[in-house]
Amino acid sequence: MLWILQAHGSFASPSAGLPKPGCKSGGRDTGGVSKPAVYSQIEETVASIRARCPQRPVLGLIFGSGLGAYADSFKGSTIIPFGEIPHFPTPTILGHSGTLILGSAEGVPAVALQGRVHLYEGYSIAEVAYPARILGCLGIQRLLVTNAAGGINPHFRPGDLMLITDHINLMGANPLVGVNLDSLGPRFPDMSEAYDAAMHKIALKVAQEKGIMLREGIYVGLCGPSYETPAEIRMCRTMGADAVGMSTIPEVIIACHMGIPVLGISCITNMAAGVLAQKLNHHEVIQTTERIKEKLFSLFQGLIPRLGEIGA
Ligand code: HPA
Repeated sequence: MLWILQAHGSFASPSAGLPKPGCKSGGRDTGGVSKPAVYSQIEETVASIRARCPQRPVLGLIFGSGLGAYADSFKGSTIIPFGEIPHFPTPTILGHSGTLILGSAEGVPAVALQGRVHLYEGYSIAEVAYPARILGCLGIQRLLVTNAAGGINPHFRPGDLMLITDHINLMGANPLVGVNLDSLGPRFPDMSEAYDAAMHKIALKVAQEKGIMLREGIYVGLCGPSYETPAEIRMCRTMGADAVGMSTIPEVIIACHMGIPVLGISCITNMAAGVLAQKLNHHEVIQTTERIKEKLFSLFQGLIPRLGEIGA
């Protein structure tokens, strides 16, 4: 069953996607100047992870802070702190050091990022997206991304899970700006199905079987770290957004660039500014994340083994 998952996807082999030494990057990527330094950084990062665990993951998971405990249930896991991985950015938020875990998730070879870095920590958007690019170069064929988000849609409630149908990038930056890494993806990647319809359909099916209510909607990403003003939230609602957060978009753009199908899930931790007659409170975000976790993990337990159905 799992191997159907391996057969699907845009990568011909687990190592495809990893730039080859001496590949065309020395020419077209750079206008014939020199191979971008990021290629050798990627090679170093991937080699260091593979030296610790040769297993080739087919599924990638990226967890926002407080949601990563799911990866603790991986079987046969190799745990690598971000700080031990060359060129990996490390979260600056106290108590969220960031960990990469390789292992088996519901029988599927997987790699998870517990924790991520954000633009508001002072990292460039390319640095924020670097770990997602590494998951692609490790050979993943599908990516599950989660985040905490504020509910803009007035029908939502804190504690809801929202399947992301599309996003609006208001972060003011794009991780693909600069020299294109031609061996990883095209200069102008298509974003018309940034969130994979087939995975979305399976997630809805699994949620229905498990009696988990799933909202669906559009995620808007802003830089942060200040929460939005009520006027900004009204603007986002007018644009069609249902939930707001400060992450995810850089990683999803990188996955689209590499042709990796994505499923995105927002955990609605609070109602966005001005939706309710109360101030936002980071403590509420943390408490709701704690409460939502079990529902999210139960969805993953049902969903991950079923991803193999796609393309079968
Ligand atoms: N705004 C932005 N990011 C968030 C929010 C919010 O209301 N809640 C959780 N992450």
